[in-house]
Amino acid sequence: MVRPLEEGVIRDGTARDEEAVQELIHHLVEQVGGSGEQDQPVHAAVGVPAEALRVNKMAIRDAVREHADALMVVSEPFAVAYGLDALNHALVIDIGAGTMDFCVMRGTMPAEEDQRSLNTAGDQIDRRLLELLEEEYPEARFSDTVVRKYKEQHGFVQKNGRMSVKVDVPVEGKVTSINITDAVRQACDTILAPLVETAVDLIARYEPEFQEQVRQNIYLAGGGSLLDGLADAVEGELSEYGPCQVQTVDDPLYAGANGALALAQDMPEEYWEDM
Ligand SMILES: Nc1ncnc2c1ncn2[C@@H]1O[C@H](COP(=O)(O)OP(=O)(O)O)[C@@H](O)[C@H]1O
Ligand SMILES: [Mg+2]
Repeated sequence: MVRPLEEGVIRDGTARDEEAVQELIHHLVEQVGGSGEQDQPVHAAVGVPAEALRVNKMAIRDAVREHADALMVVSEPFAVAYGLDALNHALVIDIGAGTMDFCVMRGTMPAEEDQRSLNTAGDQIDRRLLELLEEEYPEARFSDTVVRKYKEQHGFVQKNGRMSVKVDVPVEGKVTSINITDAVRQACDTILAPLVETAVDLIARYEPEFQEQVRQNIYLAGGGSLLDGLADAVEGELSEYGPCQVQTVDDPLYAGANGALALAQDMPEEYWEDM
């Protein structure tokens, strides 16, 4: 088993990683009926973390070359914003596995200073949760996959005392029910402070007369935005700075892909890079 992506980019590792990425892209292109006899050119729009645009473009180009005829690399939170039509006075926060990406929209293509990427995202929650569980239940056995599943099924932020999460784990071969509520909360809460801090910082750089509008237009997307209570928690923290509204987009897991598709359909030929 190879996991070729790390912290939101293709791992600068072994040939196995590169091979795995190519296989994956091949598979995706095949799934959408893009390879085969029809002789239709394949255009690939690839979403990347906000700050990975420059560094990772070569690696992406290499990976896509075999399977596509034209390439467009877009920042993922920008793709989300485009799909939502949230193009002005808005802030998109896309919480994936490797990175949490921010993009402030000011009516034009976002510049570098309008975007941020942090490594505090889904994978980090998983690592923290595994640590906490191993500490608390040294006699039980947990795998990365199981811990991620706990988070996806039961993950939540804040909400003290309002819920209880119990799971069954084998302890010395015997199925045992353990309470993981505090560990889940603690692990999930770790993304909250960096998220709020970065949002505050980006909004503070916005034209003062429109900052309130931006605060009313905050969208959470990506798998991490499915954590229960996240939008409310962020709204609670940010309302210290003034009235605000934070919402999770309708289709968090596909918002980036949907936006990239809309962008791909709208962009004229000169925005594509031939492969
Ligand atoms: N229901 C859920 N609750 C919390 N986290 C989730 C949920 N579903 C998926 N995730 C997490 O979201 C991350 C993947 O999100 P995604 O937006 O698909 O990522 P990426 O853009 O990095 O491919 C993973 O860390 C995954 O565990
Ligand atoms: Mg993503």
